Amino acid sequence: MESPRFLSAEATRQLREQFGTPLYVYDEATLRRQAESALAFPNPFGLTVRYAMKASPNAVILRLFDSCGLHFDASSVHEVDRLLRAGVPAEKISLSTQELPDSFPKYIEQGVSLNASSIIQLERFGERFPGGRVGLRFNPGRGSGHSNRTNVGGRSSSFGIWHEKTGIVQEIVARYRLTAFRIHTHIGSGSDPAVWEHVADLNLKMLRHFPAVSVLNMGGGYKIARMPGETATELAAAGRKISAGLTALADETGRRIHLEIEPGTYLVANAGAVVSTIQDVTDTGSSGRAFLKLDCGMTEILRPALYGSQHPLTLVPAGDTNRQERHFYTVVGHCCESGDILTPAPGEPEMVADLELPQAHIGDLMVIDGAGAYCSAMATGNYNSFPLAPEVLRRTDGQFDLIRKRQSLDQLLANEIPI
Ligand SMILES: Cc1ncc(COP(=O)(O)O)c(C=O)c1O
Repeated sequence: MESPRFLSAEATRQLREQFGTPLYVYDEATLRRQAESALAFPNPFGLTVRYAMKASPNAVILRLFDSCGLHFDASSVHEVDRLLRAGVPAEKISLSTQELPDSFPKYIEQGVSLNASSIIQLERFGERFPGGRVGLRFNPGRGSGHSNRTNVGGRSSSFGIWHEKTGIVQEIVARYRLTAFRIHTHIGSGSDPAVWEHVADLNLKMLRHFPAVSVLNMGGGYKIARMPGETATELAAAGRKISAGLTALADETGRRIHLEIEPGTYLVANAGAVVSTIQDVTDTGSSGRAFLKLDCGMTEILRPALYGSQHPLTLVPAGDTNRQERHFYTVVGHCCESGDILTPAPGEPEMVADLELPQAHIGDLMVIDGAGAYCSAMATGNYNSFPLAPEVLRRTDGQFDLIRKRQSLDQLLANEIPI
């Protein structure tokens, strides 16, 4: 029988025994390996790798990446607060946010850098910090994502300053005597490497409009292969192309631009799994479907319901048995929501598909792999009042450490005010 990506059947059973299900488990060795691989991104004049912490924000993961030498990308001041509380130095944090609250100056004063993501944000920064250093997030005019919902470039996207507004940006920068030190673009999650390369060329052109810029941040979006047959972005190839462009710019102008990338998915997606238990088996008659109902769902992993994204599912029999017989199953989550599906049809997010698995019984385990990014972070926590699931880190010596407890009912109700 097939085995889960980084968990053996025995380890999966041990996890349930120790912590119950559903639970998230992360693999330290994979996290470290991915960090090392990102740090090898080719660059001619220096590289900073920022972890886009929105992908998975547990403090243990933040500290682990901090110790690997990564810096951080935060998407809100709340994420900045989490990083600071985890002990990450403010100077390692860059903020690119859709919502810049009035409290933003206190973060800048501590050393956090801002990528102004709209003209208004740039004006606000200039008013508060005349003569200050600021990054500029541009929408380069092209975007690409694994689904339209993760495409954050082009005319239909509100992320960043539209690339044709360089004149207005230059005027604001001059008016407030700002140093625009960084250009930043992020075009989407799971972006097409060809579009990414095209945007790299656009960014090289953009650098010419801003002679004081010394840092180019190319964002994240690098694809990883969750399912068999999927291809991962080759970081070395992507890096060679942008490095050649930066070298050419240096030869021509003498500007030695420092490169930044800020992957989320690439660093954590295949380092995480959801471990769940099959809690019901049902069917819709002889010409219908057979369903496996898990004790997790969109409350732990929303991506299949939201994007129709595909995750490898591995059945782990409750006992140490060898199941010869195979069946087709539609796998669903535990929420009272028809969209709570774990086997959406590939390419047709609104339809369900069947998956061939060993014959399943109530009490068997199901491991959902490729669940390290945007799962714990983005799930519909507390829908149907399900408590947030615990998180566990598998250390390099195989030991499991609990890094987040299961939420209690008291915690779930803590902010309600009985009147
Ligand atoms: C500004 C920014 N940088 C980096 C990322 C990370 O993207 P990914 O997880 O696809 O690498 C995101 C994701 O949405 C983002 O918004």
